[in-house]
Amino acid sequence: MKAIHASLETPRLILRPMLATDFDALLLIFTDALVMAAFDEPPFTPAQMERWLQRNLDHQTEYGYGLFSVILKQTGELIGDCGLEMMAELGGAELGYDFRSHFWNQGYATEAATAVRDHAFEVLKLPQLISLIRVGNRASRRVAEKVGMQLVEELERYETHYWKYAIRQK
Ligand SMILES: CC(C)(COP(=O)(O)OP(=O)(O)OC[C@H]1O[C@@H](n2cnc3c(N)ncnc32)[C@H](O)[C@@H]1OP(=O)(O)O)[C@@H](O)C(=O)NCCC(=O)NCCS
Repeated sequence: MKAIHASLETPRLILRPMLATDFDALLLIFTDALVMAAFDEPPFTPAQMERWLQRNLDHQTEYGYGLFSVILKQTGELIGDCGLEMMAELGGAELGYDFRSHFWNQGYATEAATAVRDHAFEVLKLPQLISLIRVGNRASRRVAEKVGMQLVEELERYETHYWKYAIRQK
């Protein structure tokens, strides 16, 4: 069953499928220097943003789920992305999240990721979620822990060291 049209609601947020028209709002996230420091990358160019967005739109079409756009109910702004990307070679779908730095440390990523976790297990019936977190990204690790994930191993991928977190369907 494809659940591509599913939107999720939390007390403060709406998570809805990503749209091509989210380009400008997403570029605000991926040109945010504090966000990009977490990836040790410079800000995205518009062409990189276009490729990233198209990849997620293609993923949504192929799997019926992907990274949601996260909308702050109070203002209607797109403040982050949070959702799933299939990484079969690593044991399942990856739970990921990125938020504009202006909105950090207010519990938004945890609120969004918890809703995605529940959707993944209860609706999509995925057996396991993983998160690949660059070693040293303590905020991301803390979100993974608060969502109930546990450290499984440390691994190297494309010359970068990651903590691999995971949670299984109960
Ligand atoms: C990771 C990220 C999504 C977290 O978003 P957020 O909305 O601030 O997350 P929350 O507010 O739900 O939780 C953040 C937690 O990390 C903690 N934290 C933040 N910075 C920290 C640091 N430098 N060291 C340790 N803990 C830190 C906060 O205190 C909070 O934990 P607490 O609730 O126990 O106090 C955000 O920092 C971000 O977009 N980073 C850049 C992109 C990124 O790293 N994406 C993840 C890739 S794996």
